Amino acid sequence: MSQIGALGLLPGIPAVAAPTEEKNHFVVGPYLQNLGNREVTILWITHKNCFSWVEYGAGTYTSKREFGYHNGLIQANNRINKITLTGLKPGTEHKYKIVSTEVLGYKGSKVEFGETISSPLYGFKTPAENEEEFRMVVLNDIHDRPQTIPHLLYRHGYTGNRRDYDFVVFNGDCFDWVSDENQMVDHLLKPAVDVFATEVPFILTQGNHECRGSFSRQIPAYFAYPEGKYYYAFTRGPVRFVVLDSGEDKTDDSVEYGGLSAFDRYRETQARWLEKEIESPEFKKAPFRVVLIHISPYHSGDWHGPMHGQQVFGPLLNRAKIDLQISGHTHRYMTHDPDATHNYPIVIGGGPLEGKRTIIKLHATAKALDLKMIRDDGEVVGKYTLPKKNRT
Ligand SMILES: [Fe+2]
Repeated sequence: MSQIGALGLLPGIPAVAAPTEEKNHFVVGPYLQNLGNREVTILWITHKNCFSWVEYGAGTYTSKREFGYHNGLIQANNRINKITLTGLKPGTEHKYKIVSTEVLGYKGSKVEFGETISSPLYGFKTPAENEEEFRMVVLNDIHDRPQTIPHLLYRHGYTGNRRDYDFVVFNGDCFDWVSDENQMVDHLLKPAVDVFATEVPFILTQGNHECRGSFSRQIPAYFAYPEGKYYYAFTRGPVRFVVLDSGEDKTDDSVEYGGLSAFDRYRETQARWLEKEIESPEFKKAPFRVVLIHISPYHSGDWHGPMHGQQVFGPLLNRAKIDLQISGHTHRYMTHDPDATHNYPIVIGGGPLEGKRTIIKLHATAKALDLKMIRDDGEVVGKYTLPKKNRT
């Protein structure tokens, strides 16, 4: 019997495929966040609600399993997965894969499972405990141009055929504003996963444009931040990093924000936290101190946001003897030597248009921070070699 006959269709009448529900699949991921000596968080999104886990291990075996769990319940019946592996061996190659079993529904309290899907094996390496050096790259102000991610990283992120970065920073304004999950996936997560994020972690620093749009309050669900905050500190090799959230650039009562912004209060809260951080042993004993903040408190115009940032963060950063600050926002790449207002160098990456985009590459060793800012055409447009300071 012909196919048309089999389908019971009449000749001359076009066949219309019956709507079939899309099968479960990985929408995006896995991608890595918060890679430390002994832990990492692995994230991915499934199409359907699932019960998900990671199979992993040191070397080439994936003999261990980890789930997400909260309040005694193993995480299930969800799509956005955020699973932290702990107790890892420092300085060690690990393998992992992600697995998700569809949750079809519940009959009363009994869960009904569907098919299971799993990813290929991926790998990551935990930093050694006394890691002497690392390399990172910074992209900023991509503004909904996802092709910038492969463009800059494939062209300028390699030495020979080896990736020459251990982690990536998206230093704010990946989007113009964020309206839904598809945008988050297509404009940031997918390109990051395609190029590096299954094996190398990244940080998304909140820029003023991530604060905008109907989906801005959902963004944190897709990332793993220490204590769930956009401002925090962490140590990698010889560097103590301080990540600050510069917030919006206009005043909280600007009509654009509809009365739903409270960034003055937020920056003041961060300043109180920063005051404690710069007195902490981790900060004080670090050979280098680097600040990541989307809007630089200096050289970013006289809008309210940068001025308020200057007022609340400026004196603390000057007192803290930081080595370097890396920012974006102005869309004009620039380096600013220490001057009468800030006693540390400031590097501002450019973007988002061709000819203005930059990748900032930082190589940190026990002796020096070596920074190069490279424009998308390969021209080096900023450079610092900052030797270790003798601090008293
Ligand atoms: Fe910005």
